[in-house]
Amino acid sequence: MHILPAASARPDYAMLVKQVASILEGERDLVANASQFSAFVYDTIADLNWAGFYLARPNKAGTGEELLVGPFQGKVACARIPFGRGVCGAAASTRATILVPDVHAFPGHIACDSASNAEIVIPLVQNGKLVGVFDIDSPTLERFTLADQAGLEAMIGAFLAATDCT
Ligand code: SME
Repeated sequence: MHILPAASARPDYAMLVKQVASILEGERDLVANASQFSAFVYDTIADLNWAGFYLARPNKAGTGEELLVGPFQGKVACARIPFGRGVCGAAASTRATILVPDVHAFPGHIACDSASNAEIVIPLVQNGKLVGVFDIDSPTLERFTLADQAGLEAMIGAFLAATDCT
């Protein structure tokens, strides 16, 4: 049986986009805005166990970039993820949102929190540069719909418009 998410799991994304713009107005600092954005998403969108940023940073070998954990809400996560690895690395490499209904069926998924069952990762592209990804996890299988994807992408759009990421 497929159980529909509760009404609270269907947020008014148009309103949330306006709220993001309002919360971040007057501040363009990356750490400040990424912290506020993570807290806002975690607080307003139901049924999540992780929401936060991985930012493109130099790898330890100094041979290129990889993803490094940034401001987030949820349990302690893996710090570094190479491009191309896991859902986050795949979204970073392809610069496309990846919606994963069941993380256990995603080849190479990185399990930071065993409670996670569904995930959506949105790439952050500013001035033509991949600056990181925003990752959201849920304990509920098939938690995210295409409507959630469009809404979350719009929220990220408001974040990118309000923030100097480099
Ligand atoms: N599951 C992610 C790793 C990050 S955590 O979920 C916070 C992935 O496969 O890229």
